Amino acid sequence: MAARKDPASKQGLLGSTSTEHHADYSSDSDDNVNVNNNNNTSEYPNRRQRQHAKRRTPLTNRAPSFQSLPTCKSWLARRSQCWLMCVAFGLILFVILLVGGGLGYKTIITGEPPYGLSPPWYPSPKGGIAGTWYESYRKAALLVSNMTLAEKVNITTGVGWQMGLAVGTTAPAVLVGFPSLQLQDGPLGIRNADNVTAFPAGITVGATWNRQLMYARGKAHAIEAREKGVNAILGPCVGPLGRMPAGGRSWEGFGSDPYLQGIAGAETIKGIQSEGVMATVKHFVANEQEHFRQPWEWGLPNAISSNVDDRAMHELYAWPFGDAVKAGVASVMCSYNMVNNSYACGNSKLLNGILKDELGFQGFVMSDWLAQRAGVSTALAGLDMTMPGDGLGWANGESLWGKELSRAVLNGSIPVERMDDMVTRVVAAWYQMGQDNQDKWPRDKGPNFSSWTDAKMGVTSPGSPTDQQEVVVNQFVNVQANHSVIARQVAAEGTVLLKNEGPVLPLTREGLRKRQNNANNTTSSDKIKIGIFGEDAGPIPGGDGPNSCKDRGCNQGTLGSGWGSGAVEFPYLVTPIQALRKAFDSSKVQLHEYLSNSFPSSPSDKTVMSDLDLCLVFVNADAGEGFTAWENVRGDRPDLFLQKKGDALIQSVAAKCGGGFSDVVVIIHAVGPVILEHWIDTPQIKAVLFANLPGEESGNALADVLFGHVNPSGHLPFTIGKSLQDYGPGGQVLYLPNGVVPQQDFSEGLYIDYRWFDKHDISPRYEFGYGLSYTSFEMGNATVKTIRPKSALPFPRLDALVPPPEYSTDIPPVEDVLWPEGDVEEIRKLDKYIYPYLTADEASAAVSAREKGEKYPYPEGYNTTQPLSEAGGDEGGNPDLWLLQAKVSVDVRNTGKVAGAAVPQLYMSWPESASAEQTKKVDFPVKVLRGFDKIYLEPGETRRVEFSLMRRDLSYWDVEVQNWRMVMMEGLEGDNGDYVFRVGFSSRDLRVEVRW
Ligand code: BGC
Repeated sequence: MAARKDPASKQGLLGSTSTEHHADYSSDSDDNVNVNNNNNTSEYPNRRQRQHAKRRTPLTNRAPSFQSLPTCKSWLARRSQCWLMCVAFGLILFVILLVGGGLGYKTIITGEPPYGLSPPWYPSPKGGIAGTWYESYRKAALLVSNMTLAEKVNITTGVGWQMGLAVGTTAPAVLVGFPSLQLQDGPLGIRNADNVTAFPAGITVGATWNRQLMYARGKAHAIEAREKGVNAILGPCVGPLGRMPAGGRSWEGFGSDPYLQGIAGAETIKGIQSEGVMATVKHFVANEQEHFRQPWEWGLPNAISSNVDDRAMHELYAWPFGDAVKAGVASVMCSYNMVNNSYACGNSKLLNGILKDELGFQGFVMSDWLAQRAGVSTALAGLDMTMPGDGLGWANGESLWGKELSRAVLNGSIPVERMDDMVTRVVAAWYQMGQDNQDKWPRDKGPNFSSWTDAKMGVTSPGSPTDQQEVVVNQFVNVQANHSVIARQVAAEGTVLLKNEGPVLPLTREGLRKRQNNANNTTSSDKIKIGIFGEDAGPIPGGDGPNSCKDRGCNQGTLGSGWGSGAVEFPYLVTPIQALRKAFDSSKVQLHEYLSNSFPSSPSDKTVMSDLDLCLVFVNADAGEGFTAWENVRGDRPDLFLQKKGDALIQSVAAKCGGGFSDVVVIIHAVGPVILEHWIDTPQIKAVLFANLPGEESGNALADVLFGHVNPSGHLPFTIGKSLQDYGPGGQVLYLPNGVVPQQDFSEGLYIDYRWFDKHDISPRYEFGYGLSYTSFEMGNATVKTIRPKSALPFPRLDALVPPPEYSTDIPPVEDVLWPEGDVEEIRKLDKYIYPYLTADEASAAVSAREKGEKYPYPEGYNTTQPLSEAGGDEGGNPDLWLLQAKVSVDVRNTGKVAGAAVPQLYMSWPESASAEQTKKVDFPVKVLRGFDKIYLEPGETRRVEFSLMRRDLSYWDVEVQNWRMVMMEGLEGDNGDYVFRVGFSSRDLRVEVRW
C-alpha cells in the first residue's frame, strides 16, 4: 500500500481509515509512517534532549554504509544483475509491507490469530454518569458549551514532541480560561527534573505489602509534581502485570498478581489525587513485553498483538485497572501493543466496552506516546487525548488529530457528541482534582523545569526548528521536602529477607554477634574483618554519578532503578558502601572493599581473603523500556540470571571468604525474579536479601535492615523459580517475530506466576508472598462471617445515577477553526507545532464533502449499539461488586524476641467441583490472593486481623453470561461446596483455613 504523505488524506471524510480489527493496522499505522527525516540532530540543545533522540530515530534514517566504488566497466557488467537484485529487494520489501500493513491479519508462521479479532463496541459511552463526578461534570459542561471547536481540539491533542517543557503538553482553551495541561512521567518520581525525590520503584512498593506506604509515596510524589507545575503524573503502572518474569518494565508495577497490583495501584492513585494531581494509570492493557511493543522501534511496521481471552482479560490484566477506576483515577493511558489484533488505543472493545461501559471510567483515555495509530477510528473507539500530539512519527508535527480532528468534525466523520464527550472528560477530570483552584494551581505558570535541558535558559518548544527567544526554563525549585524519609521506609520495608541461617543477621555495629572483640585493647589485626564485594555495592565506576547513563539505561554501580521513562534523575544515591562505612564501628571493624565484579586474586588479596570473618556480596539484574538497550538487554532481559557475572562472583567469595569457612551474605538488587540456583544451597551463604530497586536511599535502607533497625517485613511480589522454563510457555518473552504482526498468544489463560506453579505442581525456590523476619509469627483462630448471603450474580445494572451533559449536536461553524487573523489573536506559528486550525479552503472542502453526503467508512459494527454490560453502571462497575460479602478474621501473634511487622495473606480457592449450575465445569486456579495486611507487633503481642471480601473478589468472569459470577453450590456442604479461605505468611505457607 502506497505511503500517503499528505496529512489531509490521512483523515477526514474519505481518506481516513481504519476499522478496529485488522484493517486497523493496515491503514494509518503503516502506510503513513512519517519518519522524522527532517530532524537535524543539531537541533537538540542539550544532553537530555539527545537522550530522546534515540527513540526518535527511525530505522529508515540509518545512513547506508558504502563499499569502495566499482569501476565503470564492472559497473556496466553488473548493472543488470544489480537491477535484478534491486527489483527483487524492492519486491520483498513491498510484500512485507503489504502483508504487514494491508492485506490481513494472517501471520506468516502461526496462521490466524487464535482468538480472532477484537469485537466492535459502539458507540462510545459518555462520561458523567457517576454520582461521584456529578459536580465536576456540571462545571465542565458549562465551560465546554462555551468553547470553540479549535479550543476543544486543543484540549484533546498534544502540541507535539518537545513542544512544551513537560513530556506531554496540551494547548489551552484561552477564551474560556482552561489552561494548558502538563503531563510528566513517571511512576517513581518526576522524570527529567532537578531537585526531586527518586522514590523506590513500583516493584519495591509492592514488596512492602504496606497500604499506608503505597498511599504515602503517591502523596509525596504528587506534592512534588504540583510544586513543579505538573497537572498529571504518568503513573502508576499496573500493566505489565508481570506475566513474563524477564519482561523489561514489570518493575514499574507492583508485582505479578492482579489483586496486589490493584490495591497498590489504587492506594497510589488515592495518594496522588489527594493532592489534586491527576494520576494516569497505565498501560491499558496487556503490554507485557518490550520486544515489538510499538511499530518501527523493532524494525517491523506493526506492534505485537497480545492475544488474551475474555476471562484472563477480566480476572488478570484488566483487574487492577478496575481498582484504579474505582479509586477515581483521572486518566488511563492505553498501550502501544495490539490486543487481539487491534491497537489498544483504537480498540473499541477495550476502551468503549470494558473501560468506559463495564468499568464506568469517568476520566479520559490518553494514548501512550505515539500509540495512536489512526485518526477518526481511534476517537470512535474511545480515545480522548492523543500524546504527544504527533501522529505516526516522532516530532514530525503531523498529527492524526489536531487540525485533522477539526476537519473530521466539520465534515461529519466524528459525531459532535463524541468530540464533546472527549473534551468534557478532560475538563471534568481537571475540576474533579480541584485544579480550578488558582491558589494551588496558578494559571498559565506551566512547569518550572524543562524536560529537555539542564540549563537555566532555553526555549519552550525545542522540538520546533523555528527560532525562539530563550527564557528561564529551569527554576531549580527544590520540592523534595522530607520525602527521603518515605523513600527510605519504602526501600527498607520493600527489602525481602530470603534466607537467614544461624541467624547471621542482623549484624551489629561491631560486626558479627557471634565473635566478641576485646573491647579494651583492639588492635587492627583483632578487628572483625569484613569484605564487601561487587560493583553493585558502590558508585558508578569512574565517578560520573548515578545519572551518567541516559534514562538510567545501563547497569553500572549500585542498581537503584530500572531504565526508561519510568526512571528519574537521582538527586543523590546513597550507595550501600557509603552506608556500611558509617554503620560499622571502625574501631572494631575493618572493611575490605572490592567494588568490582572481578574477584580479587593478587597474592596480598588472597591473604586478606583467607582472614575475612564475614563477606557481603552485592549483585544485580537490570532491565527497562524498549527504546534503549544495555548490552544484550533490549528492554526485556534475555534470561533471569544475575548480570555482570554475579553468580561467579558469589561462588568465588563463598569459596574463599575466610578460607571458605566464613559466613557470606548476598544482597541482590533486581528488576524482578533472578535464578539463585547456582549458589543458594552453598553452606557458607548464610543470608540473602532481595532489595529490589530501592531508589535514592538505597544504602541507608539496606543498613536499616542489615543492622536490624528495621526488622525485615518485605515479601516477594513474584515467584522466584528455579529456572525461567519453570514459569511455563506463557512466561517466555517472544524475542523473535513470528509474523509481520508478531502474535503473542496468552494461551496459559489465568495461569501466570504462582498460579502456574501451583497448577503444575512446580516447586519454586521462593514462592510468591515469601519473606522472613528477625522474629517469628504464629496465626490461629480463623473465623469467617457472612455479611451478605451468597448469590450468583450481582444486582441487575441500575440506570445511570445522573445523566451525562447534553450539548447541541450541530456541527460548529467553520469560523471556529480558521487560522486567527489580525492582531487581536496573535499567533506566532512555530514549525512542527500542532495547531487545531484549518485554512479557509480546507474548512470549506470539509463542509462541502459533508454536504455532498460523502461518508466516512465507519468500522464494521459501528452502527450496532451494543447492550450495556450488566457488570457496569457506576464508577468501578456495578456497585454491587464492591459490597462487602464476607469477612475473614485471624489472630496473628509475634512469638519471637523482637518487634516486627507481619504480612498475613489470604488466599481463596473456589469450591472444588465448581460449576455454576453444576452442568459445566469451570476451571479455577488452585488459589488466588484475595487479602493482605501489614501489622506491627511487639514481642508476645497478638492482634486480630480482618480481611474484607467483596463480591468481585469471590466471583469469576462468566464468559457466557458476561458478568461476574459467584459459585453457588446449594445443598453441597463440605469439601465440594465451599469457598476455602487460607491465611498464612506466603502463598505456600498457609497456616489456617476456614470454609464458607
Ligand atoms: C512510555 C510511557 C511514558 C511515555 C511518555 C512511553 O514510551 O511507554 O510509559 O509515559 O513514553 O514518556
